[in-house]
Amino acid sequence: MAFPVANAGRIVDEKFLINHTSPPFQWEDNVTSVHIDALPSAMSTARLKLVPACEQFTHELREYTVENRAHLQPWEPLRAESFFETESVRRRLSMMAHNNDSGVAVHLLLIAPGTGEMVGDCNFTNIVRGPFQACHLGFSLAKRFEGQGLMREALTSAITYIFDEIRLHRIMANFRPENARGERLLKRLGFEREGLARSYLRINGVWADHVLTSLINQTPER
Ligand SMILES: CC(C)(COP(=O)(O)OP(=O)(O)OC[C@H]1O[C@@H](n2cnc3c(N)ncnc32)[C@H](O)[C@@H]1OP(=O)(O)O)[C@@H](O)C(=O)NCCC(=O)NCCS
Repeated sequence: MAFPVANAGRIVDEKFLINHTSPPFQWEDNVTSVHIDALPSAMSTARLKLVPACEQFTHELREYTVENRAHLQPWEPLRAESFFETESVRRRLSMMAHNNDSGVAVHLLLIAPGTGEMVGDCNFTNIVRGPFQACHLGFSLAKRFEGQGLMREALTSAITYIFDEIRLHRIMANFRPENARGERLLKRLGFEREGLARSYLRINGVWADHVLTSLINQTPER
């Protein structure tokens, strides 16, 4: 399933009308000769809007980050107090928007259409072209929204977009061995285990082992 290019689904809030004032980003790969257009302003799933990260969502991301601080800390780097301040959140969103526009990442915020509340995020980062055509996937969901299949729903659509429109060949996702929820989710999405990397990422203050998994685009020639 491919996302329509613009204004997918019902627009429920003016914030979904992301203002891409710069010309659509076009990237030409000298191996596969693909053109990548700017991200759609929003993508719809049955229960969510997937919105490219940008500064308009500073309030929503700050609320999300503060509310889920303890929930997310075991799976993230140690955060300074300033990380939770409005200006820091705004700067991160600005950087994400820049990355989205530059074609090096796809940062998406998961928004509940009814309330406009941010319920999670998913980030396809480190996009490498040439013969690799790959990226890393990271994601998180608010504690209050776990156990409803929402991240699976969001990632099912986002991954289709990454494979069909961004035309990557491989998505890599890594998790700490004790992250049972993350492991179940990736397995259900079809990610396959490729190994165990010792002392892989400095998470929550320690160098933590990670299980390496990936999902490969099954479309021939991609
Ligand atoms: C990892 C994380 C996103 C998983 O969230 P989640 O809600 O368990 O993920 P899913 O969307 O796949 O939901 C699956 C659960 O919803 C249940 N569910 C309920 N209704 C459902 C529906 N309509 N459709 C599908 N599943 C449904 C499933 O049974 C499943 O529960 P189970 O795992 O206990 O069997 C979340 O725990 C999180 O953000 N953790 C902290 C950050 C983190 O770990 N990030 C990843 C680092 S690798």
